[in-house]
Amino acid sequence: MGPPGAGKGTQAVRLSEQYGIPAIATGDIFRSNIKEQTPLGVEVKAIVDAGDYVPDTLTNALVASRLEEPDAVGGFLLDGYPRTLEQVAYLDELLARDGQSLNAVIQLVADQDEVVSRLRKRAIEQGRTDDTEEAIRHRQQVYLRETTPLIAVYGDRGLLIEVDGLGDIDDVSSRVASALEARGIVPVAS
Ligand SMILES: Nc1ncnc2c1ncn2[C@@H]1O[C@H](COP(=O)(O)OP(=O)(O)OP(=O)(O)O)[C@@H](O)[C@H]1O
Ligand SMILES: [Mg+2]
Repeated sequence: MGPPGAGKGTQAVRLSEQYGIPAIATGDIFRSNIKEQTPLGVEVKAIVDAGDYVPDTLTNALVASRLEEPDAVGGFLLDGYPRTLEQVAYLDELLARDGQSLNAVIQLVADQDEVVSRLRKRAIEQGRTDDTEEAIRHRQQVYLRETTPLIAVYGDRGLLIEVDGLGDIDDVSSRVASALEARGIVPVAS
């Protein structure tokens, strides 16, 4: 978890390699569908470009089918999901059906000025159509309204790991790794 620009995607890729589990990023899946102009992509393009959340029903179904892929059987990392209380409830049920549950929720903490400056930089480098000034501001508001309540939910469950998202990418990765280790969440030897 973390606001747009907190570094979720960057850290997710690293964790995915360290733990040998897929990083499942709903935003990436939406973007690739938009690029390929699939029916889903066509349906969500305007929503994603504006920085709004895709309706829960669509997002939930997408995650459910992705988690059925064989590579997710031994574990997975979700990046950018769940983002609403309804998605939390859906995921709980989905996992419970298979006798599974989340091991941890990592919250990347970064202040607003820092994330805005990162997103401005990315706008120039990657040209994401939702990295316009207006969409950035809007995404922050949506995050604040829809997603910050999840912090308390996972905090109450004792799952939340707060990690300082500022500074070097490597430093943040080390912080995440030691926080997970401290909870006994370590890569399975292969
Ligand atoms: N769980 C979700 N629920 C609803 N919409 C989602 C969800 N995940 C992604 N999206 C859609 O995809 C867009 C991009 O998501 P993504 O996670 O890539 O970006 P972000 O968190 O806003 O920023 P960043 O890439 O900097 O972390 C969101 O703004 C939203 O429109
Ligand atoms: Mg991302």
